[in-house]
Amino acid sequence: MTSEAITVLGLGNLGRALAETFVRAGHPVTVWNRSAAKTPGFSAAATVAEAVALGDLVVVAVLDNRAAQQVLSGVDVRGKALVNLTSGTPGEARELARWAYENGAEYLHGAVYAVPQTIGTAESSINYSGSPLVHERWQNVLALLGKVTFLGEDAGRASGYDAAILSGMYGLLGGFLHAAALARAGGIKAADLTPMLLSWLTDMQPALHTFAEEIDSGSYTGGESSLAMNQSGLALLIRATEAQGVPFGALSELKALVDQQVLDGRGEESLARAVESFARG
Ligand SMILES: NC(=O)c1ccc[n+]([C@@H]2O[C@H](COP(=O)([O-])OP(=O)(O)OC[C@H]3O[C@@H](n4cnc5c(N)ncnc54)[C@H](OP(=O)(O)O)[C@@H]3O)[C@@H](O)[C@H]2O)c1
Repeated sequence: MTSEAITVLGLGNLGRALAETFVRAGHPVTVWNRSAAKTPGFSAAATVAEAVALGDLVVVAVLDNRAAQQVLSGVDVRGKALVNLTSGTPGEARELARWAYENGAEYLHGAVYAVPQTIGTAESSINYSGSPLVHERWQNVLALLGKVTFLGEDAGRASGYDAAILSGMYGLLGGFLHAAALARAGGIKAADLTPMLLSWLTDMQPALHTFAEEIDSGSYTGGESSLAMNQSGLALLIRATEAQGVPFGALSELKALVDQQVLDGRGEESLARAVESFARG
């Protein structure tokens, strides 16, 4: 058994998977959960303070950062390495990092790309940002949970990536659900549509790299997929979806971003330029 003692605060679905993974690897693990009903089978402390005192590494996984703040408030965290895997905004992560620093602890924030069942497998990865000391000292232990990627010293950076990645994911999921509804309205099974949709999305992947370069450089003049062409394509698609009785507001919102750029006289430039419409609010 290794001597690196670990505390897990929060024994919900994620926290339980984290604690079980550390136990399996032979670490002495102390857990604390708001409701004691979830702690049987673990070495559980009666209070957060007791749990924190017993761990060199303290991992937090509660519902949101407000709960994380409540849990840690008033607890002596001096000398501890705090790793918070709770989802939230970059600002919340920075605030917790400041609190930790002012109270003598080191703070690393993590964004988890796994479900509880895949924690500790090759299908799990976690992006971290915050204290480089915690990352360096604990990365081998954190690697038990999933692939470790360190994004730098700004504690809010992992949550910043997370919001963007999850927005992309929900955009894709929303698009898929709409596609399935449209297919169903046309008498096509979702299972028949999905392989063709995936094939097209896979072929389209390189376009995202091109768009990313255009967005980062602010130069949109080299593209092949113009705003004007996509404006016309979106108008057609919106009409088609309405005709099938399955309209989707997200398409109109996307078209509004494109319309704004065309109105500004940028119709011949790349579709990626529509990103500039977001900045208008
Ligand atoms: N599950 C996933 O697949 C997954 C993946 C990535 C990220 N995450 C993130 O990980 C965090 C935990 O997710 P989860 O799936 O474990 O959620 P969960 O199963 O709903 O568990 C929530 C945990 O938070 C505790 N909690 C809630 N409010 C609290 C408060 N005010 N004070 C103290 N404890 C409080 C709960 O305690 P009680 O048992 O007493 O209610 C429970 O331990 C979330 O931020 C989630 O977004 C989860």
